[in-house]
Amino acid sequence: MEKLTVAVIFGSRSAEHDVSIITGISIIKALDLSGKYESVPIYIDKKGRWFSANELKDIALFSSGRIEGFLNKQKPILIKVGDGLQLMKQGLKPKLLNIDVVFPATHGTHGEDGELMGLLEMANIPYVGCDVPSSAIAMDKALAKIISQSQGILTSKFVWFYADEFNNSQKQIITRLKELKYPLFVKPVHLGSSIAISRVKDESELINAIEVAAHYDNKIIVEEAVNSLIEVTVPIVGNESLQLALVEQPLTTADNFFDFDTKYIRGGGKKSNGGGKQTGAQGYSKLPADLPKELYLLAENTAKDVYKAIGCSGIARIDLLIDSKAEKVYFNEINPLPGSLYAHNWREAGKSTVNLVSELVDLAKEKHQKKQRLQTVFDTNYLKQY
Ligand SMILES: Nc1ncnc2c1ncn2[C@@H]1O[C@H](COP(=O)(O)OP(=O)(O)O)[C@@H](O)[C@H]1O
Ligand SMILES: [Mg+2]
Repeated sequence: MEKLTVAVIFGSRSAEHDVSIITGISIIKALDLSGKYESVPIYIDKKGRWFSANELKDIALFSSGRIEGFLNKQKPILIKVGDGLQLMKQGLKPKLLNIDVVFPATHGTHGEDGELMGLLEMANIPYVGCDVPSSAIAMDKALAKIISQSQGILTSKFVWFYADEFNNSQKQIITRLKELKYPLFVKPVHLGSSIAISRVKDESELINAIEVAAHYDNKIIVEEAVNSLIEVTVPIVGNESLQLALVEQPLTTADNFFDFDTKYIRGGGKKSNGGGKQTGAQGYSKLPADLPKELYLLAENTAKDVYKAIGCSGIARIDLLIDSKAEKVYFNEINPLPGSLYAHNWREAGKSTVNLVSELVDLAKEKHQKKQRLQTVFDTNYLKQY
């Protein structure tokens, strides 16, 4: 059987550019190991130029800093979008390469937010993971909460507003925020990695925290803190029928909540020290989470409900905040593309990374085939009157 050509797209104009390189290359490795696919790396640099070359499969090219010099000698590729997607390498003899499936590995803006998925929809090509609306909703912490809430899923009480509204009528916004009980979390709705997030104890800290968030985003959410906090995250794979990995518990406290450093730098450098503790994309964690059986089940069911409410497909990871005293599970946020696919958790749950990527490619094809069966062409007499 002929091998499927799978293009893995990573990098892009995002604060999470570097993390995406790790995710992209880990996916390529697993696709190559499977022996079933011809993997094609597509790297979008920080300026937004698209490149493709076999050398881009090597993490050392990036970690050594040689990437700059390498790209200077390369010509960006051209992408042909029509019925399908083709990649064209520029040169004396331009070559067209047909892509069968795309595996997006871009985190954050200009990728995970649905923009890339829009291009892939236009090309009518199968691609792994969430579609345009679900990716876009996931990228907005307020929208994701509003939609989940409307489906009966619990979220902590929140108020959202535009930065402009705050700048123009601060008093009104502060009055609206009086309905919330301190401590509060102030967050830009579109960012990740705890950038510009503050925990505030009282009104004296509130304005400054909002100003910081408004510096980064045009939309802000302020929400009540969950007490007696146990944070968990639930990786899910599937289209209609869902598979869950283990409910994972990142080991942090409310005071020392995740920052970029904890997530990607300190955590990554430490070794797992046994006792169910793992180091993944998010540093130390307990796998599975240390929860009473009923709360564990409730977390699983809440995660499934969120996945469905937001309309995810392929893969996503749902972050939950648990009030361990009140035994309540609150939806916090959703990641359509978990860092490195959260492969460490799937492995622990019994799914190798090779099987994980193969299943994701199959799910992408299945979703695409199903969509082809929907009628998109309608014959009308409309034009005859002109
Ligand atoms: N409502 C809340 N109650 C308690 N802790 C929270 C709340 N919101 C956020 N946090 C803490 O802040 C961290 C970062 O917030 P989060 O919404 O997950 O943003 P990010 O996109 O940066 O991951 C969470 O992992 C959690 O530790
Ligand atoms: Mg988070």
